[in-house]
Formats: sequence, structure tokens, C-alpha cells
Amino acid sequence: MKSLKIAIAGLGTVGVGVIKILEEHSAMIAARTGRRIEIVAVSASNRSRDRGIDISGYDWADNVLDFAARDDVDMVIELIGGSDGVAKELAQQSLSNGKSFVTANKALIAHHGAELAQSAEDNNIAMRFEASVAGGIPIIKSIGEGLAANRLTKVYGILNGTTNYMLSQMEATGKDYGEILEETKLLGYLEADPSLDLDGIDAGHKLAILGSVAFGVKTDFDNVYMEGIRRIKLVDIEYARELGYRIKLLGISSLSDAGLEQRVHPCLVPKSAPIAIVDNGFNAVVVDGDYIDRTFYEGRGAGEGPTASAVVADIIDIARGRSGPAFFVPIGEMQEARPVSISDRNGPYYIRLHVEEQPGVIADITAALRDEDVSLHIMLQKGSEQDGTVYVIMVTHETHEKRVMNALDQIDSLSSVIDKPLAIRIENL
Ligand SMILES: NC(=O)c1ccc[n+]([C@@H]2O[C@H](COP(=O)([O-])OP(=O)(O)OC[C@H]3O[C@@H](n4cnc5c(N)ncnc54)[C@H](OP(=O)(O)O)[C@@H]3O)[C@@H](O)[C@H]2O)c1
Repeated sequence: MKSLKIAIAGLGTVGVGVIKILEEHSAMIAARTGRRIEIVAVSASNRSRDRGIDISGYDWADNVLDFAARDDVDMVIELIGGSDGVAKELAQQSLSNGKSFVTANKALIAHHGAELAQSAEDNNIAMRFEASVAGGIPIIKSIGEGLAANRLTKVYGILNGTTNYMLSQMEATGKDYGEILEETKLLGYLEADPSLDLDGIDAGHKLAILGSVAFGVKTDFDNVYMEGIRRIKLVDIEYARELGYRIKLLGISSLSDAGLEQRVHPCLVPKSAPIAIVDNGFNAVVVDGDYIDRTFYEGRGAGEGPTASAVVADIIDIARGRSGPAFFVPIGEMQEARPVSISDRNGPYYIRLHVEEQPGVIADITAALRDEDVSLHIMLQKGSEQDGTVYVIMVTHETHEKRVMNALDQIDSLSSVIDKPLAIRIENL
């Protein structure tokens, strides 16, 4: 069979990894697909940068958009990044010129996935984005193919390796957030815009894609609730452990009669839950369905090898002639789901208050909770800090999000309360 001719746009961490795999495993991949994968051209911003690999055998394009117009290119691989700009233009032009398209770009798919999948469908061409979610875990294929017999009800997981690393390191070393943040920066683990990691946006992109694949609903990133890890202190990790929990930044999506729930936020999860022991740069995804009950997937969430492995798997899939819809159902069959607001959540909460040690403080706090009908399951108060302040930790019974937030607003206005109160949702998974 004729070789598959590909062009690679972007030669950073992932692009270099893709070239290494395609070169090292070329014979094995040819045997598995029945055809050779041939890199015909590459592009990046800076031609003279040393990338640690020899790219002199490939054509160089100063403008990646040239790939979309070349007759000798069957498939374009976009490994540049960003939801708009050149990545989006390259996707649009490649698909409308009949080139199949593979990307690792979660921001692009979270924002424009439906529109691009429509273009792929209109042009009868394949588009794939396995590497955009959970790096080395083949979760999109598992959901779209392996679990295709099931009505899926819930998908959740640890979708950002950097924040999982930070939370794991806080617990392992006993260092506070600020110190671990500096160390993580030095290791180069944070995105160029750290907010993508720290504020849950990267996990939000991945969750929107996962929900879309799992439930056959149009990707709706605008309605993902996102809260990151910036307010987590070492005391929270320590108290959580004492209470039998660990703190994880989870993305949770479910589809029910109420609509589509999509939220990313720190959670207290029971120490015994399989997801609680997934540490450092690892990701994990749990998928619940009507006939499989529960499935659990774990693997490296990012990095050159795992991410490039997922990109090459997509290339192989298309080389084998698989060209079904990108989200596994035709765009015309995808539902527009009604968003469920975070303020409709019901469940228990961990609350951390930092207060001045004065008579009557606890009475004021419990009065605010009573006014909102929030009942307490546990209340902990340990010896005071050196400055005469004290942390008060509370665990509520199952209650309504709005009631907790109203009570915390009231508590925040008390003169004896020092820091803004923090509530962390408890997920008994
Ligand atoms: N890194 C990971 O672990 C990981 C995991 C999952 C998904 N992803 C996704 O994979 C994609 C690539 O990530 P990465 O980590 O490989 O990024 P990266 O290391 O920053 O590489 C980006 C590449 O794009 C090139 N580039 C930038 N603007 C360009 C332009 N206008 N035209 C042509 N090339 C351009 C850069 O060129 P220069 O090298 O010359 O500057 C660089 O080679 C992103 O969408 C990312 O979200 C990454």
C-alpha cells in the first residue's frame, strides 16, 4: 500500500517525541499498519534551534500553513498549542483541503472541537486528538470504542499532572504551597502560563473533551466550573489526612436528567479510593457505565514519551484506514446538554477557618451555619498558632452548596476571622 505522508507542525517536547518514535519504530509500525509512515516536512518557529535530533532529512516550512496546501501531504500533525491563532487556522485549512488531522492540543479541541469535527465530516476525512487528554492513557479510544456498548453516566479523574505533583509533594515533604510552587517552577513542570495548571483550566479543557466523548454531547468548555489549588495550605493536607482523606484536584463530569455537570476543583477523597493513591505526575480516569459498572485507568499524564505515544497511535489508526467521527458519533447526533450549575451540588464539605482565639468566636461561627441549616459532623480545633490565632476545621453532613457558601460569606464578615474561609468539597468516590 502507498505510504502515508505526514507533515509535523511544532517540534517542541511532543513534536520531537513523535519523530523519535516514528524513526525508531518505523518497521514495527509499517508491519502493524501495512504501510510506511513517511515524514515529508516539519516546521517550528526557529529553524536553527538544536532539538537534539537530526531533522535535515525532512523538508522545512517557514510557514506551517503551507502544509495544508501541499499535494504531497496526506496528514497534518499539529503540535504547536493554543486554542486559536495558527493552530486553529492550520486545523481548518488542513481539513478543508482534505488532509487528515491529528493534534495533542486540548485548548483547541475544548474550544473548537465540534466545529472542526464538522469540517472533518463534511470533507470525509479523519481527525484525532487522543493525546489531548491524560497523555499516555488511551482514554478517548477506551471510551469511544472499548466502552461503546454502555450508557456512560460519570467520568472523572486527575487530569493535570503538575498540580497532582504539587499536592503529592506538599504531603510528602511537609512544605507549604509557596515553597512547592517555586520548586515546581524550577523543574519546568508548569505551563508557560501557570494559570492553566494552577487554576484548573488545563484540567477543564480535558474534562470538556472527555464529557463530550463519553456522553455524546457537544463540547461545552464555557460551562465548566473551574477552581484550582492556589488556596490549599499544608494544614488542609494534614487535617484531611487525619480525617481519613487525601486532597486531589479532580475533574468530574456526569450526565443525568438534570443536565451536564462539569466541574474541576480540589476534593477530599477517601484514602482508600483507588484515585487517592495516584501521585506525582500520574493521571487517572474513572469511567462509570451501565453495563461495565466502573473502570479505572492510570498512566503518565504528560511528557515527551507518553504524549508522543498517543499522537503516534492516532497516526497509526488513520493509517489503518479508520476514519469514523472524531467524537465517535456524527456531529448531527450530538446533543446540546443543559449545564448544571456548581451551586446545585449536594454533598459534604470540609471547611477551614483561621480565626483569632477569642471567647464567642465558635458561637458566632456555629450560628452562621445554623442560619443556613448546615449541620456539622466533625469539628476540630487544635492548639493555637504562635500568633494567638487558631485553625478551626469542620466537616459538614451532606448539604447544599449554596447554603455552605452563604454561611461562609456570613462567617467571613466576622471581625475575628482572619483569612477568607475555605470550603473543599468531599467526594466519597
Ligand atoms: N508537553 C506535554 O507533556 C503535553 C502533553 C499533552 C498535550 N500537549 C500539547 O501538545 C502541544 C505541544 O506541546 P509541547 O509541550 O510540545 O509544546 P512546546 O514544547 O512549547 O513546543 C511548541 C512548538 O511549536 C512551535 N511553534 C510555535 N509557534 C509556531 C508557529 N507559529 N509555527 C510553527 N511552529 C510554531 C515551537 O517552535 P520553536 O521550538 O522553534 O520555539 C515549538 O517547537 C500543545 O497543544 C500541548 O498542550 C503537551
